Amino acid sequence: MSKHIMNEGYIGGDDFITSGKGSNIIINKKKILDLSLCAGSLILGHNSKIYRDSVREVLKLNISNFAAKNLHAANLSKTLKKIFPQYSKFIFCNSGTEAVIKSLRVARAISKKKLIISVSGSWHGSTGELLFTNDNKYRNIELSEGLDKNYSKNLKFIPYNNIENSKKILDKNRKKIMCIIIEPIQGCLPMNTKKYLKFLSDYANKNNITLIFDEIITGIRFNCSSVQNIFKLNPSISTFGKCLGGGFPMGIIALKKNIVNKLNKNKKNVFFGGTFSGNSINTYVGNKVTKFIIKNKKNIFEKLNEKAMYLQTQLNDFFIRFNYQARCYRFSSILRIVFTDKDIKNRTQRDFLEKKNRSAIDKFRKFLFKNKIYHSKNGIIFLATTTSYKDINYLIKIIQKGFKNKFH
Ligand SMILES: Cc1ncc(COP(=O)(O)O)c(C=O)c1O
Repeated sequence: MSKHIMNEGYIGGDDFITSGKGSNIIINKKKILDLSLCAGSLILGHNSKIYRDSVREVLKLNISNFAAKNLHAANLSKTLKKIFPQYSKFIFCNSGTEAVIKSLRVARAISKKKLIISVSGSWHGSTGELLFTNDNKYRNIELSEGLDKNYSKNLKFIPYNNIENSKKILDKNRKKIMCIIIEPIQGCLPMNTKKYLKFLSDYANKNNITLIFDEIITGIRFNCSSVQNIFKLNPSISTFGKCLGGGFPMGIIALKKNIVNKLNKNKKNVFFGGTFSGNSINTYVGNKVTKFIIKNKKNIFEKLNEKAMYLQTQLNDFFIRFNYQARCYRFSSILRIVFTDKDIKNRTQRDFLEKKNRSAIDKFRKFLFKNKIYHSKNGIIFLATTTSYKDINYLIKIIQKGFKNKFH
């Protein structure tokens, strides 16, 4: 099979996933422990009861798609308003990428400026304008062929979790900034960076800069809420998706009242349309699953966090005891094993220190797969309510065996 039609989540040529239940997926008729869970979308695991019941209801109620205003999208909006009361408008689309593209469109519509400030290490999907990384001098590096050359001219990186250097770059460019966009807690190095986020939120507010939080992973996954709510931060636009689709594709652009007012006042007509935007099937299932999560939040999130903490502690105890160059980073139920024992603050440092261990990282992933564990190439480990202690203990045992045998 040509690699060109595969996305980077796939492993070998013929190892296609056929189905999933709970914490497992089936590949070539073999049960595999899934650490990806649809890139973090399935917080209740594969084929949860509420997901299956909702899909059955879709059929029973003759819910179809309409490409027009419908009750089910309105209901999901109402549910979102309960979790994010600070937003006055929720606009639906079909992927996180689409939500990010449209959030940048809004920011541009209300600004006369051009410069996007992106924060190193943040991932915003396949959004062309942001499909860059940075070198250690914060110069842009394209992550794909085929990007418009103007994208790079209008984009500048600041270093994640480095207040001093971020402030220098922001101050130097302040008058040119159209918006700042950040993945507040990053899948590439999940850890608590509240102080940095508070600095950025305050800087944007003080200087009247539109701040966009991309909470596509953390929206609802972080304690049935979000980074901005729990840390009391104040972005004016946010993007959500993943878990809030309940297993179906979802992208959400959330706008604060000040943004809606600016659009109205300046008679700005931002185009958000799309055949399947706010479609009733996705929003029906998304709403049912989200309401279930809200209703059972105490039980769901306490246990999820306990399990995630157990996995992190066990792995780090092992890495430290045997002097391995690895550490497990964690925020909420999002984890990542980083192949260095040095303390790191952001992805730039991570990439530099992991460089010499690239082939070990690759071998590690393949070793896990040989032992019936699917660890996606993006390196993020997501837990679901269905990931049991038995699963976690198996994972720990295999990781320990792998490190001891150099992944052979
Ligand atoms: C933080 C963040 N933003 C945006 C995206 C893009 O979302 P999608 O893959 O649904 O287009 C992702 C996807 O992994 C993400 O993690």
